[in-house]
Amino acid sequence: MGAGVLTRTFPRVDGVVRCGTTSAEEVAREFGTPLYVYDLDRVRERARAFTEAFVGVDHLLAYSVKANGNLSVLRALAEVGCGADVTSGGELYRARLAGIPAERIVFAGVGKTRAEIEQALGEGILAFNVESRGELDRIAEVADAHGARARFGVRVNPDVLASTPHRYTATGHAATKFGVPWSDVRALYHRALERPSLDAVGIDVHIGSQIVGVDPYERAVDRVLELGAELREDGVALEYVDIGGGFGISYDDRPGLDIDDLARRVVLRVRDADLRLLLEPGRALVGDAGVLLVRVQYVKESEGKTFVVVDGGMSELLRPSHYGGFHEIEPAGPSEGRPIRPVDVVGPICETGDFLALDRALPVPSPGDLLVVRTAGAYGFSMASNYNGRPRPAEVVVDGTEVRLARRRERHEDLTRGEA
Ligand code: LLP
Repeated sequence: MGAGVLTRTFPRVDGVVRCGTTSAEEVAREFGTPLYVYDLDRVRERARAFTEAFVGVDHLLAYSVKANGNLSVLRALAEVGCGADVTSGGELYRARLAGIPAERIVFAGVGKTRAEIEQALGEGILAFNVESRGELDRIAEVADAHGARARFGVRVNPDVLASTPHRYTATGHAATKFGVPWSDVRALYHRALERPSLDAVGIDVHIGSQIVGVDPYERAVDRVLELGAELREDGVALEYVDIGGGFGISYDDRPGLDIDDLARRVVLRVRDADLRLLLEPGRALVGDAGVLLVRVQYVKESEGKTFVVVDGGMSELLRPSHYGGFHEIEPAGPSEGRPIRPVDVVGPICETGDFLALDRALPVPSPGDLLVVRTAGAYGFSMASNYNGRPRPAEVVVDGTEVRLARRRERHEDLTRGEA
């Protein structure tokens, strides 16, 4: 058994999966299912691992709020010094509410509205990550109208194709909506030099998500640093380089990205360039710090197939059906003596694509059994929906020996709130 297994979050002890000092079963009984559970110590530990790896260069961890925006998670990250990468006014609101200082927040995304730009300028964020000429012009207009100055970096498209598990999560190549094409970047900075309300302070790149190799990062960093040096010669006062997020984690027996190796390849380069380093990890900080607990409702045999129908599906965890995402699933309690068979673990939604796992070898459970869906801390609740009239699940945090409600389960009244 490797060290990774011994230090696993939500370990199995005496045949029972644990959430901190209590069992998953007890937590599920108290708070109901489907239920998200996050281990805050693990979140802090992951943030510390990044901080230690990158200690050789002045850096900021701008946690990517889209991965998991729960206020308790954000607060834990704020406490260990993290900033935030936000993609909307809503995420900015959340990050500020959780106590993340504005000067540690970058605002990304291809579709920033006027209202969002106003909100961000009002807060005094660290910088906008600009994705197009139209956006830069809009930011300048809004800043002018408010007598404000807007700090920004251009998100450049480095045309680096990094291997990601699904084409929906590859972003660094030329054929996506993200980033400014390489050949247009310098002109954009020059345009900004002429606008007194714009401060070009950074250069930004993000090449995709769930990337497990360091080479694409190295290539992207080399490319942007070279461009950064040219920009400085042009008179652009660059302060930082933002290498985005996408740092892959382990969902199965394959390892995630080696953060120390990444740091070894990046730290000196950025330090030599005399720039501050921004990183935007999302999944890597929260992914394996979360599980989704679901309860088996029925075990249905049909045409030689076994369907394990549970009380959570694509409305709670969209990753399996949307990206073919793999999540380990195991019984929360002992399962000795049960036959192991390939089963489909499916949700209650009226869609054939509503599943958590297909053809998965599992000890065949019984109705009432609790299942643990692992590595669900990132892009789980944050992508949850009310489809099929389903209230979104509760979220609970384990904080040392304490287990507490972080967000109550939605009620039926929540489903119609705001409707005429
Ligand atoms: N920075 C930018 C500009 C991003 O677009 C993203 C993610 C991140 C940082 C954080 O990436 P992370 O470190 O979490 O991989 N829903 C998909 C992932 C979508 C990622 C979108 N952008 C999934 O469940 O796999």
